[in-house]
Amino acid sequence: MKIVKDFELKEITTFHLPARCAWFATYDSEDELRDLLAGELCKTNKVMQIGGGSNLVFTSDFDGVILNTEICHIDTISQPGDEVVLRVGSGVVWDDLVKFCVEHNYYGIENMSYIPGKVGASAVQNIGSYGAEVKDVITRVRTMCVADGSIRYFDNSECRYAYRDSIFKKELKGKYIVTEVEYKLSTTPRFNLEYGPLKRLADLPDLTIAKVRDEIIAIRCAKLPDPKYVGSVGSFFTNPIVDSAFFEKFIELHSDAPHYLLDDGRVKIPAGWLIEHSGLKGHRCGGAVVWEKQCLVIANIDNALPDDVVRLYRFIIETVKDSFGVELVPEANII
Ligand code: EPU
Repeated sequence: MKIVKDFELKEITTFHLPARCAWFATYDSEDELRDLLAGELCKTNKVMQIGGGSNLVFTSDFDGVILNTEICHIDTISQPGDEVVLRVGSGVVWDDLVKFCVEHNYYGIENMSYIPGKVGASAVQNIGSYGAEVKDVITRVRTMCVADGSIRYFDNSECRYAYRDSIFKKELKGKYIVTEVEYKLSTTPRFNLEYGPLKRLADLPDLTIAKVRDEIIAIRCAKLPDPKYVGSVGSFFTNPIVDSAFFEKFIELHSDAPHYLLDDGRVKIPAGWLIEHSGLKGHRCGGAVVWEKQCLVIANIDNALPDDVVRLYRFIIETVKDSFGVELVPEANII
């Protein structure tokens, strides 16, 4: 266990905004986490668990304890038939897990290559990309109760997964900390090539899981800022979901807008398209900018301050609302 006082958060969040927290506590086992939660520090301060800092926007300093998991195991539990179960510590870097699975030919998460963040956050946020969502491979989630340190498992259905959402972001926010996630993957090839630019891979006679990963990485790198050089939280907003009555009027006016019909009759419209067609591509506030190749992303291109990001994201919400009557909701966790 390591506790640091007055900690600079700039380097541990992917947005790289300057902000500090009063205490930064790293643990590498459930026992250490239990001790931390029972200790004076956590009992007398605000406590926040982070999962790789890839979805956090600190708009000011955090006057409390930030908990950082380094529970880092990947246990393989073989199964009869063509499935494998992996029990993975919450502190494993998500893309390290994807790489591990690709190397072992475990199919199911390769489309989510390169998503920043850690395994614990994958189960809270229900991460997804290129036609895949992590909820489809999570069997259960092991958590620790913040109030009393007890262990509780949540089955997939108890997690109440929805688009970028789960019970851990809603009713149980701040009440349970994910310590381990169990994934069920396939050991025989099962590709998911429904996402437009992936369809052409279906015709390759010698398609491998590694090729799918390479393709995903190439698509991401072409559209999204490279986290090594440019700070961002990936998508800043979720794609809005509108009802069918609203959509009918909307599509009459904007027949070229991409959209996806959902099972319940509602329609998802890409926020990136709405932002671009509100004229905001490349719009800048201080060091923060609407990323030209994917307007859903706000990037820190020049030592952005928290206030630059706040001004920019509020301006985006206002402008899109004025242009289309749709209110965007941040996907990022704004603190
Ligand atoms: N589009 C534009 N302009 C833009 C951005 C997008 O016109 O600036 C259009 C595209 O041409 C396309 C449509 O909008 O027709 C959808 O774009 P894209 O396929 O890039 O996906 P997205 O809906 O914008 C979502 C996820 C991404 C994920 C991609 C691919 C959300 C909030 N975002 O973006 O997730 O990588 O699909 O699956 O659901 C992330 O969460 O950090 C993230 C990057």
